[in-house]
Amino acid sequence: MNAADVHTDAVRHHDPAVRGFASDNYAGVHPEILAAIALANGGHQVAYGEDDYTAHLQDVFRRHFGEKAEAFPVFNGTGANVVALQALLPRWGAVVAAETAHINVDECGAPEKVAGIKIHTVPTPDGKLTPELIDRQAWGWDDEHRAQPLAVSLTQSTELGTLYTADEIKAICDHAHEHGMLVHVDGSRLANAAASLDRPFREFTTDAGVDILSFGGTKNGLLLGEVVVVLNPERVRNLKYLRKMSMQLASKMRFVSVQFEALLSGDLWLRNAGHANAMAKRLETAVRGIEGVTVVRPVQANAVFALLPREVSERLQKRYRFYFWDEHTGEVRWMAAFDTTEADIDAFATAIAEEMGRA
Ligand SMILES: Cc1ncc(COP(=O)(O)O)c(C=O)c1O
Repeated sequence: MNAADVHTDAVRHHDPAVRGFASDNYAGVHPEILAAIALANGGHQVAYGEDDYTAHLQDVFRRHFGEKAEAFPVFNGTGANVVALQALLPRWGAVVAAETAHINVDECGAPEKVAGIKIHTVPTPDGKLTPELIDRQAWGWDDEHRAQPLAVSLTQSTELGTLYTADEIKAICDHAHEHGMLVHVDGSRLANAAASLDRPFREFTTDAGVDILSFGGTKNGLLLGEVVVVLNPERVRNLKYLRKMSMQLASKMRFVSVQFEALLSGDLWLRNAGHANAMAKRLETAVRGIEGVTVVRPVQANAVFALLPREVSERLQKRYRFYFWDEHTGEVRWMAAFDTTEADIDAFATAIAEEMGRA
């Protein structure tokens, strides 16, 4: 039976014409992903990751991240981070991260509460760690009074829409490894980074020395799903137990895995991420021409951060959804998604200009 012909008792509760700039998670599911899910449907497959799709996914990830890569699909990004960090750290371990890191500010304390991991934070100008910034927290080994800094976590692209180059990540990994620390990358937007850098994933992950990665799918067109990718299996073990203990083991895993196959076997990941990045650039260009609006951070992926009068933002929010990034300064964040159109950007830029005109 063709899925499109199937009757459903559900009714549409939303207007698909309503668009926003609040988050790349507000977007729906790419049709090629929906087609892949339908393809994997029907018949019975062994549950909990012993299915044919998850088996094939290992090849897909090895192609992008090298022969040693091991892929563990999970439900969401917070879960991926919590599982990955646990795999790097003993009970007394701590992770060094930027103050703005998602693990620090947007996970309701899950790394601390679920995994018991202390986060040693560092303020950064642009959301990026450096060896020097890491050193502000990388000390006190052997001191039983201090949670031991045994891992570093960086985000690519960062929460502030900025990017690390492969050399910058390599410098962090070399530095961390010299101190006996392992490196995690929160790659919930790794595809946006690869598209913007125009470099293969492995160049700024595996080849740079990253030990474990949270690879994002949801923000790039999936229905749901992320993958914890072990890049250094000699140092990082026991993922399967940690995933189950952390409630991230999907019984019908084939439907998560097939989405990643659809995303990564061809160029869907690049089309989606490249498009989202291009839409952010288009927005940046448009608003730079509007007097009184200041783009306050480099636009290197799919996020635009701007300052404009607060009352203008509040009026705009009645027309389009977006968030204040910093309630104190009034800085706002505008995100583009894989399905943001040029017309969406142009209409939004016009709305900003109109509201500025009334300022
Ligand atoms: C940098 C970063 N990491 C991880 C996540 C994953 O979060 P979630 O648990 O909502 O999938 C997000 C989502 O906003 C994010 O921006």
